[in-house]
Amino acid sequence: MMPTYTRLLATACALATTANAVTPLVVKGTDFVNSKTGDRFQILGVDYQPGGSSGFSKTEDPLSQPDACLRDAALMQSLGVNTIRVYNLSPSVDHSKCASIFNGAGIYMILDVNSPLYGGSLDRTNPSGTYNADYFEQVFGVIEAFKNFPNTLAFFSGNEVINEDSVYAAPAYIRAVTRDMKDYIAKNANRSIPVGYSAADVRPILLDTLNYFSCNLENSTSSRADMFGLNSYSWCGDSSFKTSGYDVLVDDFSNSSLPVFFSEYGCNLVTPRKFSEVGTIYGKEMSAVFSGGLVYEWTQEENNYGLVSVNSSDTATLLVDYDNLKIQYSKLDMSSIESSNATQTSREPAACESSLITNGTFLNSWDLPTRPTKVNDWISNGYTNATVGKLVTVSSTAIPQTIYDSNGNKLSSIKYSVLANDQSNVPNNETSTSTSSNSSSSSSSSSSSSSSSSSTSDSHENVDTNGATAAAQMSASVLCLLSGVTLFAAFLL
Ligand SMILES: *[C@@H]1O[C@H](CO)[C@@H](O)[C@H](O)[C@H]1NC(C)=O
Ligand SMILES: *[C@@H]1O[C@H](CO)[C@@H](O)[C@H](O)[C@H]1NC(C)=O
Ligand SMILES: *[C@@H]1O[C@H](CO)[C@@H](O)[C@H](O)[C@H]1NC(C)=O
Ligand SMILES: *[C@@H]1O[C@H](CO)[C@@H](O)[C@H](O)[C@H]1NC(C)=O
Ligand SMILES: *[C@@H]1O[C@H](CO)[C@@H](O)[C@H](O)[C@H]1NC(C)=O
Ligand SMILES: *[C@@H]1O[C@H](CO)[C@@H](O)[C@H](O)[C@H]1NC(C)=O
Ligand SMILES: *[C@@H]1O[C@H](CO)[C@@H](O)[C@H](O)[C@H]1NC(C)=O
Ligand SMILES: *[C@@H]1O[C@H](CO)[C@@H](O)[C@H](O)[C@H]1NC(C)=O
Ligand SMILES: *[C@@H]1O[C@H](CO)[C@@H](O)[C@H](O)[C@H]1NC(C)=O
Repeated sequence: MMPTYTRLLATACALATTANAVTPLVVKGTDFVNSKTGDRFQILGVDYQPGGSSGFSKTEDPLSQPDACLRDAALMQSLGVNTIRVYNLSPSVDHSKCASIFNGAGIYMILDVNSPLYGGSLDRTNPSGTYNADYFEQVFGVIEAFKNFPNTLAFFSGNEVINEDSVYAAPAYIRAVTRDMKDYIAKNANRSIPVGYSAADVRPILLDTLNYFSCNLENSTSSRADMFGLNSYSWCGDSSFKTSGYDVLVDDFSNSSLPVFFSEYGCNLVTPRKFSEVGTIYGKEMSAVFSGGLVYEWTQEENNYGLVSVNSSDTATLLVDYDNLKIQYSKLDMSSIESSNATQTSREPAACESSLITNGTFLNSWDLPTRPTKVNDWISNGYTNATVGKLVTVSSTAIPQTIYDSNGNKLSSIKYSVLANDQSNVPNNETSTSTSSNSSSSSSSSSSSSSSSSSTSDSHENVDTNGATAAAQMSASVLCLLSGVTLFAAFLL
């Protein structure tokens, strides 16, 4: 037995020098579960698209700027988030730092493989003309970019492709893309990363959509979706399980054979949003059927769904919705959320047959398109024109931006913390004390001279904090070196 202090030091050194990692999740029946412990995982998520759909180009996307990711991961840790969804990603930029930052914070990623650029998605009005090799450079490129991160929870093959404008054959093409992605992952990644579809809440065809993607197709088993996301905004203000129509969703999805969750929720017809649906989504009425959901959306954009307002690259302000969501998350009983229910985790998918489809406008056959030769070659040999991400150690954890709370008070100590190995983030685990910095010296906000002097003292505080952190890190490294020498000496003895 090593002496306690040596073990502590060894642990500290391991924490300082290795990239801690979340445990990959797997799909088991209708649940996401932790691949090591078997504990059930429910998504406490936010949709993450800073800058909206225009916050994206070939060279810049939401996971390409480490400073912004660090700020957001720290704020999400404090909020209690365990998953983000990112819509638009470029295979040619390096996501290693951002993905590692979210991994260290215990936050998983659900990634859409499509992009808004020309050729970056299936055209719902012309799927046969856009199901081609050009499109798969984007699809396989995103898989390559993210396949090596333990916190890659899943990929979405499509988002709301099926709607009133989509052509009759569209579902077969989405199912084909799902097949091609799963075949690619099986051949070219080290673990089986789930693939699913994110549906619009079009009630007359919702069950048809679910059934179309989740049924078992004997001649193409890999085309079956692993999970199903629903974008739904039917709970507005102080609604209820019945008034919102969530009860209908639970009935509709109660027989599903795969995990179902809200890939977007958070109606903003009544503001500020109180997120009173959170207790219901994770409570006994829904949690047997739903695996949680993702709130739309992290940053404030023109459509007014934000939790955080990013005023500039160096300041951000928490909005009331952030506070309200945090209050709701903090009431959740994580131990019941994480316990699994063995009886519901195994449900055989129905075989695909036309009787599964009830609405005459919805495709009721599964004659999937054959894939282009080049796509077949990439599946066999790998797609090599992408920036393959890999987990890196998060070395700089000081938040470079100034953060204000929803009252406009500066937050003095937002902190990013790397969680222990195998941990994911949970509510009520304040790694950062995000109390506002209402110090007596800055309490007067009426005079401009006083507020300017308070901001000066605030920036001094910041420097001090960063200095202290740097000093702590340095002494940790020195300790590691020393303990390394000690352990080596002990080994020699
Ligand atoms: C699997 O992981 C190993 C070790 O990280 C790596 O060398 C190998 O290339 C990976 N294989 C694939 C198919 O990604
Ligand atoms: C669920 O399955 C039960 C029993 O097989 C069936 O009676 C019910 O209609 C199904 N519900 C849905 C929404 O498919
Ligand atoms: C940032 O934006 C929010 C929301 O638009 C606003 O209320 C706040 O005053 C801004 N903060 C700063 C420091 O500019
Ligand atoms: C497990 O799930 C089944 C089916 O949804 C339900 O009837 C049962 O009450 C659940 N058991 C527990 C302990 O939650
Ligand atoms: C079938 O779906 C379409 C499109 O969503 C809808 O307008 C129509 O009312 C549905 N028909 C029936 C009989 O449910
Ligand atoms: C696979 O099975 C489906 C449903 O039975 C059928 O429509 C389709 O033509 C079959 N595809 C092939 C390539 O045999
Ligand atoms: C590889 O990707 C880059 C950037 O996306 C693109 O400009 C280039 O044309 C691609 N090269 C090939 C051989 O496809
Ligand atoms: C809670 O926070 C502490 C650091 O303050 C961290 O060590 C621990 O891993 C966290 N636990 C979870 C489950 O996030
Ligand atoms: C901070 O000060 C503002 C106004 O000066 C006040 O509204 C707010 O409640 C204070 N917050 C705390 C946590 O004391």
